[in-house]
Amino acid sequence: MAGTAENRAAGAATPGLVVSGMRPTGKLHLGHLLGTNRNWIALQAEHRCHFFVADWHVVTTDYEHPTEIARFSEEMVIDWLAAGIDPEQTVVFQQSAVLEHAELFLLLGMICPVPWLERNPTYKEQREQLVERDLSTYGFLGYPVLQAADILMYKANFVPVGVDQVPHIELAREIARRFNHLYGTVFPEPEALLSNAPKVPGLDGRKMSKSYNNAVFLDEEPGEIRAQLRRMMTDPRRVRRKDPGDPADCPAFNLHRVYCTPEEIAHVTRGCTTAGIGCLECKDIMIDHVVADLAQHQERRRDIAQRRGFVREVLAAGNERARELARGTMEQVRAAVGIGGK
Ligand code: TRP
Ligand code: SF4
Repeated sequence: MAGTAENRAAGAATPGLVVSGMRPTGKLHLGHLLGTNRNWIALQAEHRCHFFVADWHVVTTDYEHPTEIARFSEEMVIDWLAAGIDPEQTVVFQQSAVLEHAELFLLLGMICPVPWLERNPTYKEQREQLVERDLSTYGFLGYPVLQAADILMYKANFVPVGVDQVPHIELAREIARRFNHLYGTVFPEPEALLSNAPKVPGLDGRKMSKSYNNAVFLDEEPGEIRAQLRRMMTDPRRVRRKDPGDPADCPAFNLHRVYCTPEEIAHVTRGCTTAGIGCLECKDIMIDHVVADLAQHQERRRDIAQRRGFVREVLAAGNERARELARGTMEQVRAAVGIGGK
């Protein structure tokens, strides 16, 4: 794929500037933590990172009922901090607090051809899937232009995202190229950084998502987490206890891969392929790890949630730092376009 780098170990790419964002749409689940946030934390050790709350992006789809975005934003940042995002090394900020993003979005919108946006596969897919909402808006069409502004503002080299976001990063590259061509080089072309963290499917084997009703939320009680994971889909060939299976075809086994020791993996694999172990027994080995991990996360989260002042300070400091950097970029951008202004 053009413009993507395999992120084998988080540090495999040469050090550079990393930018990524997450939309505050509600409570976080295991898919967010394992698929996104843990990857960010690994990147944080090797790169300069900016992780931000993409709250304006939520309004592109939820403009009719945007009431909870502020609360979700703060709760999400608490989860990030509990997971190990370190505000001492990483700029943690909120998109809507850095108005320069809106200015850059506007200017990039001037040069981005509408057909580039209309042929974006995510756009077409979402328009078809979210039929209950009217997404024939200017703002929703411009979603990737705003995302390009988020990325280019900090001259990001790398953007850790899931495969579904790769077309957006590709668009950001094309927009950067067009800007540089028209006005002189200001922006590096960002690369998507695909984490090879195993995908964590939801309880039914599809992608974990709140809207599919198949998510394990991070704030669930241990007993509930266990009950949910015990119901998680396994290799459909194991209809009866004596039917052998293959971990490669088992959604639950993706969690074994994340959590289990090599010995446990070997034990479970042997047991599965020889029908020497039942699925519940097999899943319980993994579930113990998940429950312990989430209990720890919840404890750190409770501690941070009690220090709201600290959370708000982290965001205020991150917003200020992001604004400083954004002001610098916008001075260059205005000079390049030739509209002056300060
Ligand atoms: N569109 C991204 C998502 O839904 C969120 C996002 C907004 C983002 N701006 C970004 C991700 C900039 C990376 C970089 O996941
Ligand atoms: Fe999955 Fe384990 Fe059942 Fe095999 S035994 S199908 S790996 S849960």
